[in-house]
Amino acid sequence: MTQSRILVAGATGKVGGAVVAQLHAAGVPVRALVRGEASFPEGVQAVRGDLGDPASLGAALEGVESVFLVWPFLSAEGASDVIDAIGRRARRVVYLSSAGVGSVEEEPGEAITAFHSELERLVEASGLEWTALRPTGFASNTLGWAEKIRTTGTVRAPLAGLARPLIHEADIAAVAVQALTTDALLGARPLLTGPELVTQERQVALIGEAIGRPVRFEEITLAEAGEQMRAAGYPPELVEAVLPVQAKMLANPEPVNGEVERVTGTPARTFQEWAVDHATDFR
Ligand SMILES: NC(=O)c1ccc[n+]([C@@H]2O[C@H](COP(=O)([O-])OP(=O)(O)OC[C@H]3O[C@@H](n4cnc5c(N)ncnc54)[C@H](OP(=O)(O)O)[C@@H]3O)[C@@H](O)[C@H]2O)c1
Repeated sequence: MTQSRILVAGATGKVGGAVVAQLHAAGVPVRALVRGEASFPEGVQAVRGDLGDPASLGAALEGVESVFLVWPFLSAEGASDVIDAIGRRARRVVYLSSAGVGSVEEEPGEAITAFHSELERLVEASGLEWTALRPTGFASNTLGWAEKIRTTGTVRAPLAGLARPLIHEADIAAVAVQALTTDALLGARPLLTGPELVTQERQVALIGEAIGRPVRFEEITLAEAGEQMRAAGYPPELVEAVLPVQAKMLANPEPVNGEVERVTGTPARTFQEWAVDHATDFR
């Protein structure tokens, strides 16, 4: 395992936060890229920088060997300058991409995968050692239901029977740690899934079990769901991309694979485990 310093972007977020925690727990020197105040375990260095302003990244990249890159925007604009900046200082980049890249669901110009395709292309052409992690939907997406579960005990959403192998952020992070600290995933684009398909209706029931009171799933139409997402402030291009993809997945569920276990030696966590880990968010 290498002991050189690793910079984690998205360090206050779900996956980046888990990467910081796991690297730190493994005794690897870790630096968190932050835009504002943030608290981390003692020993984690937080350095300011904004991925929207490549010139601001100098201090964060100083003395860094590898970078875990989360791209927080819906377009690849500016990514080339950021990856050039990483390439001038570091040796390796591990990019958090998406299972949508290269899948049957990918369509030209589709907002949720087009920028990941472009970022993968830039990373691969950068001359850096690279890995592109392609996780399926995050279990943490269900946190979008948390407020309704807390206040009404009911989730109103489309596609009750949509079954997905949602993945725990800790499993994406565990694979990222391998990609950052060993050579096992150099030049690889592993597809990462949870261990089983779980329908949305069942996800809601499992959250109810985790918090110790029943939660109801009330199915609504895709049109109503689109209105709901727009009203909640989701960018229109995201709404237009996500719902048709989900409707297609209802008929053609995503594959489930054992890649997390193959890379980390531990089976991927179930949605039930994720719900228990996050029960306080839903209470
Ligand atoms: N959700 C899914 O199902 C799914 C599936 C596959 C791939 N992905 C990809 O996963 C990524 C998101 O990961 P996540 O859910 O772990 O993130 P997240 O929890 O939404 O957190 C976003 C992180 O990015 C940081 N950030 C935002 N704007 C920034 C900027 N201008 N400069 C530097 N940092 C900035 C945020 O920091 P602040 O604290 O400063 O805001 C935060 O740490 C996206 O690229 C998404 O496409 C998602």
